Amino acid sequence: MTYDFDAPVDRRGTASIKWNMYDDDVLPLWVADMDFRSPEPVIEALVERARVGIFGYEMDFSELVEVVQARLEERQGWRPAAEAFHFLPGLVSGLNVVVRMVGQPGDGVSMATPIYPPFLQAVTKAGRELHDARMVYTIDGNILHYELDFDALEAAVTPRTRLFMLCNPHNPVGRVYTRAELEQVAEFCLRHDLIICSDEIHCDLILGDQPHLSIAALDPEISRRCITLLAPSKTFNLPGLGCSLAVSENPELLAQFKATAEGIVPYPNIMAVTAAVAAYRYGQPWLDELLPYLRGNRDALIQFVTERMPEVKLTCPEGTYLAWLNCHGLDLGEYENPYQFCLNEARVAFNDGAAFGPGGEGFVRINMGTQRARLLEAMERMAAAIQTRDIQSPQSS
Ligand SMILES: Cc1ncc(COP(=O)(O)O)c(C=O)c1O
Repeated sequence: MTYDFDAPVDRRGTASIKWNMYDDDVLPLWVADMDFRSPEPVIEALVERARVGIFGYEMDFSELVEVVQARLEERQGWRPAAEAFHFLPGLVSGLNVVVRMVGQPGDGVSMATPIYPPFLQAVTKAGRELHDARMVYTIDGNILHYELDFDALEAAVTPRTRLFMLCNPHNPVGRVYTRAELEQVAEFCLRHDLIICSDEIHCDLILGDQPHLSIAALDPEISRRCITLLAPSKTFNLPGLGCSLAVSENPELLAQFKATAEGIVPYPNIMAVTAAVAAYRYGQPWLDELLPYLRGNRDALIQFVTERMPEVKLTCPEGTYLAWLNCHGLDLGEYENPYQFCLNEARVAFNDGAAFGPGGEGFVRINMGTQRARLLEAMERMAAAIQTRDIQSPQSS
């Protein structure tokens, strides 16, 4: 054990969005960045690059391409050519570029909800229509297991649907899709002639047995209709640096992507690229220690909820460091949603499930990427707030 993820980290007083958004007495477990220092080799690479002292325009992404190609090949036997890559300062801008480059205003975009809110916003901001379908879940004990609902996706498609947006691993429900599921998505997209945009930003944060597979890696025919979006930012906790990659083995699609982004979306900056290369090249030992720690957090959260909040059902995420809690069983009294209840009564900030689209109402998303003691303190606060409410409103017992 080289890295101590339990070591207390105080981020107050930094410009952190996560830590500055709420009052000082609120524990923030919302926006997806982790309260951990990044791998030491990344920090060293950044310091070394800063010491050069000259920060002119740079346009050499060859090292970044090499490390990503090697990673994709090693993990899934998929090696897109160097020409298949484009570079961005953030993955959300990639989502917006893809929505704008496919079809016309008024056309439709298919996706499964609940989903990371910028997917929904990208569609409406571009004047496209959401042809969405809710995922379905089963409950085993108190564990939620989500699946894509292909009948509902089918029913939502119209002749104007042009694009399918996949989130794999899926934020917020933590699914890492199996080959069979991806084949079904691919078949659906082929049949309806849909372009596929696959956001795989959480692909290296695998907590379960199911390895991540890119939909574009299924076969060349599928790959021809795919734009895959990747980034080291969640994996190595570098989101504030901003470096993402768009990959498409279809030169026409990639050219369209570049043309839509040109002059609007800049390249990632020098420090972001330096960090990304160092992370992919030297960050694996850190990641190998992080993943068991995150699994431990997930298991501790599940144990806590099982023992102390039987009315709450939650996911056991196969990927991401995000848990998704169904709070419909809670008596929230005058509160409209569990997010507001937790914020006001427990002084804990989660994400409001309603922001994740249909199927998100009554849920909260918890960012487990923090010291275990802090995660459990947040849950203790939530349990205490629920208990106080139960005592005050006996009709709920
Ligand atoms: C699925 C998904 N895509 C994209 C992002 C953000 O990407 P970026 O900060 O690079 O724009 C997040 C962050 O939480 C995410 O969960």
